[in-house]
Amino acid sequence: MDWGLKNRLSRIIRPDGRTVMLAVDHGYFLGPTSGLEDVGRTVKPLMPYADALMPTRGILRTSVDASVGTPIVLRVSGGNSILSELSNEGITVAMEDAVRLNVSAVALSIYVGSPNEKQTLLNLAKLVDEGQRYGMPVLAVTAVGKDMARDARYLALCCRIAAEIGAHVVKTYYCEGFEKMVKTCPVPLVMAGGKKLPEQEALELTYNAIKRGAAGVDMGRNIFQSDSPVAMIQAVRAVVHDKATPAQAFDLYKSLKGKAGKKSGLKGVTAGRDELSKH
Ligand code: R5P
Repeated sequence: MDWGLKNRLSRIIRPDGRTVMLAVDHGYFLGPTSGLEDVGRTVKPLMPYADALMPTRGILRTSVDASVGTPIVLRVSGGNSILSELSNEGITVAMEDAVRLNVSAVALSIYVGSPNEKQTLLNLAKLVDEGQRYGMPVLAVTAVGKDMARDARYLALCCRIAAEIGAHVVKTYYCEGFEKMVKTCPVPLVMAGGKKLPEQEALELTYNAIKRGAAGVDMGRNIFQSDSPVAMIQAVRAVVHDKATPAQAFDLYKSLKGKAGKKSGLKGVTAGRDELSKH
């Protein structure tokens, strides 16, 4: 691996081999998602606890302080919306602009088994070629079509294809047999959080993924739609980086949430409509 690419990747995956990425890119096809109506306001208090932030370039330029030290994993695929065929994606950002934005990696979705499977896999191939040229790591997101089961056989297929094409990191969902995906995927796997769960369950999910070999999480709704997002991201960190059990992490969440509540007298963002859970 070239030095530049290795250096960028090491900003995202910490020396312990783990990462807590905060995904806030949902608006690229969902519009104003619950909890992300004002992305700048949502992410500001979370930034000190995120190993990386995953926005789109429009949100990065308009809503994230340029002096921020947190590495950016830039969403560079889109062209679809919740109203259309989700797999119909193209590359939406030139590699030159990603470099101009000084991001640490680029991310795009692949839709294996969808009507646009080939198109999205060729998008990945093109991005990897450009990434190699510029020293930019590529994270492939194994997106799931509306009717597809998220079982280990299917997700292992997606993850392996992504790695075979050259993705440097793969993001996928948790499922039974997760360790099979890890074993058959030669690059680090990070777990997508998926739809909003009660905090304790989300921490258990994180624990199970880490225990079965995930390099961390790229989590969105289970953090920013939590009753206390700042407490939740710290609890997730405790599992990912500090070997906390789900029970220990949930205790930490409750204690931090209690302290934050006393300090501000405010209730955090609450979970609302969950469009992503539809697919
Ligand atoms: C979905 O396509 C987006 O890439 C999200 O970043 C991803 O789903 C992770 O967010 P969440 O944890 O909310 O599922």
